Amino acid sequence: TFDVAAIEFIIAQRKTMPGALLPILHDIQSAVGFIPPSMVPAIADGLNLSRAEVHGVITYYHFFRQHPAGKHVVQICRAEACQARGCESLVDHAKELLGCDFHEITDDGKFSLEVVYCLGQCASGPAIQIDDDLYARVSNEKFNRLIQAKRG
Ligand code: FES
Repeated sequence: TFDVAAIEFIIAQRKTMPGALLPILHDIQSAVGFIPPSMVPAIADGLNLSRAEVHGVITYYHFFRQHPAGKHVVQICRAEACQARGCESLVDHAKELLGCDFHEITDDGKFSLEVVYCLGQCASGPAIQIDDDLYARVSNEKFNRLIQAKRG
């Protein structure tokens, strides 16, 4: 469930500004935590865009979620410098530890796993972000510790 009225308010408030789609999507995600697919028609109608255009933008930007997030959002950098520093084995490890794939939520709802392309820590990858905190040189062991700490 999500607050439909809040989303309708965001659309109404911003729909006449130029280039409103991205700001609207950002506002919706910060208000309700994701972009509910069932609201795509209302967004499209408000902006005189096709549903396909709105859907295309939502799926193009990895930042936008189409389902509710877990309590903590874990983002793993998969851009070039982190690739060179071995992020793929961390990716495999993270998926196994959390028991979910990218863009999914753990069974207990505590974590969402997301991919990100560069966190500005290229010299000291693999880099990850958990909620608002950045972590560099993340080994599998360090990842375990970080997750354990959030599990509490
Ligand atoms: Fe991963 Fe820049 S490539 S932080």
